[in-house]
Amino acid sequence: MKHILIDADTGIDDSIAILYALKSPYLHVEGITTCFGNSGAEQSAENSIRLIGISHCGYDVPVVVGAKETLDGESKSAPAHIHGDNGIGNVVLPATAQKPLDMDAADFILEKARELNGELIIVTTGRLTNLARALQKDPTLPRQVKGLVVMGGCVAVHGNVSPVAEANIAGDARASDLVFRAGFPMLLVGLDVTTKTFITAKDVENALRFCREDSRESLEYIRQALAFYFEFHRVSEGMVDCCFVHDPLAMLLAEDPTLGTYRMIRARVEYECPDYAGKIVLDERFQRTMEHGEIAACMEVDADLAIRRLFSVFC
Ligand code: BDR
Ligand code: CA
Repeated sequence: MKHILIDADTGIDDSIAILYALKSPYLHVEGITTCFGNSGAEQSAENSIRLIGISHCGYDVPVVVGAKETLDGESKSAPAHIHGDNGIGNVVLPATAQKPLDMDAADFILEKARELNGELIIVTTGRLTNLARALQKDPTLPRQVKGLVVMGGCVAVHGNVSPVAEANIAGDARASDLVFRAGFPMLLVGLDVTTKTFITAKDVENALRFCREDSRESLEYIRQALAFYFEFHRVSEGMVDCCFVHDPLAMLLAEDPTLGTYRMIRARVEYECPDYAGKIVLDERFQRTMEHGEIAACMEVDADLAIRRLFSVFC
């Protein structure tokens, strides 16, 4: 069993990653911290709480509202055409009695790392602001966790918010740079693999045909939320009835890294030059100057197996 903490900007693909984690027999979700991004940090917390409700996971999962703006105090509005006004494709999930913990998200991350005594794996599916704030409070955090899996970035492919940058990394580029240089045992799951992995309407239909009764509500939600996300992919990418698989792929690789193959990189993130903000800068020279630890960047993935595994937890 792997103990994970999810840091998310709970949008449509984050929500599928969260439901997968809550359903997987190999993962125990120790908590969810939220960040601005696909919607606000508070809305993301409410979405997460409602997802816990429909997951019927059978255990309590604390949720903490995190950063509402970047490290530099910049607040960016959520892109409603991608994830809807409420972040989850305007689907209204049933409310529950759970409330977010009244606690600082960075402190929560640090506390969980200590409590799990080297066993915690942090999976981020949004901006890296909460993690960067935790690092500012305790720079030894990388040595206290078992791993960090980051959905974000683009190493050998183009970006999605600029020609050179991906949304999560660019969304708070200075925070990303801090995290990249901190020495975490880190696995990067970027557009290099997430844009080569697809969920189709047929996948969801098939899962609904064969799902367990306690998963029907989750899959019904996924069907509705994905209809919104498919439309965004149709308009922006010319894809019909299918979408890229960003955040769920990071969760699948956190659970089983053997689904992917990796390139070890020494990297930092550009944050000063506006046109290149969020670009991952590699140091591959013979005499390199970036001496911080290497990051395992996922470059290939068994996409077919990943998708079958994703839906298997509901069936
Ligand atoms: C990332 O950006 C967000 O819109 C998605 O949830 C994902 O985390 C992909 O670039
Ligand atoms: Ca996300």
